[in-house]
Amino acid sequence: MMGNVFVLDHPLIQHKLTYVRKTETGTKEFRELVDEIAGLMAYEITRDLPVEEVTIETPVTTTKSYVLTGKKIGIVPILRAGLGMVEGVLRHIPTAKVGHVGLYRDPDTLMPHEYYFKMPNDIEERDLIVVDPMLATGGSASDAIQSLKNRGAKSIKLMCLIAAPEGVEAIREAHPEVDIYLAAMDEKLNDHGYIVPGLGDAGDRLYGTK
Ligand code: PRP
Ligand code: URA
Repeated sequence: MMGNVFVLDHPLIQHKLTYVRKTETGTKEFRELVDEIAGLMAYEITRDLPVEEVTIETPVTTTKSYVLTGKKIGIVPILRAGLGMVEGVLRHIPTAKVGHVGLYRDPDTLMPHEYYFKMPNDIEERDLIVVDPMLATGGSASDAIQSLKNRGAKSIKLMCLIAAPEGVEAIREAHPEVDIYLAAMDEKLNDHGYIVPGLGDAGDRLYGTK
């Protein structure tokens, strides 16, 4: 089955994304906004989680209500920039476990290099949400997803703030079953592999490095 691409064009997400993109937005505000957007996206991305009916006692009466059922969640940030999205998701899914994939993109070849991989020991039984603000060539996310599959992961969603069409195509080609959730689909990549219009270097803007 071919995965779907969902652009979460909620007004709150779009408003915050505008400020994330702006050059004059400083590190503190940038980090807060990425966190807030990730939280709002988590709310949308979990809309289809299964629930089951249970019978409970309120102080007044017996009633039927709903609780989550089905698989547990795992959040997988791609280091560094993906870290900026973790807390926002955890606010809504506080019992999720977090696995980390360390990847950096070689600035000359644009090829990703894995330097860290640490997962909960039951990833094959979890619904995993891979988070990274930027999906540019798609190389980093594609490698991260492949690493997860190699270790037994069966259910993976990808959540990014901004994607280039090239990155979306790369994921659809390599991992056709993975649903992709975005705050925005941008125009293109430039000659340096940056997303246009984009927001610049997400890791540098989150952590104040250059
Ligand atoms: C950025 C970004 C993605 C990757 C996207 O990370 O956070 O992981 O580039 O590019 P791609 O789709 O072409 O692979 P970067 O390699 O700059 O590392 P950092 O998060 O440590 O800054
Ligand atoms: N990584 C980033 O942080 N920004 C881009 O535009 C592309 C890759």
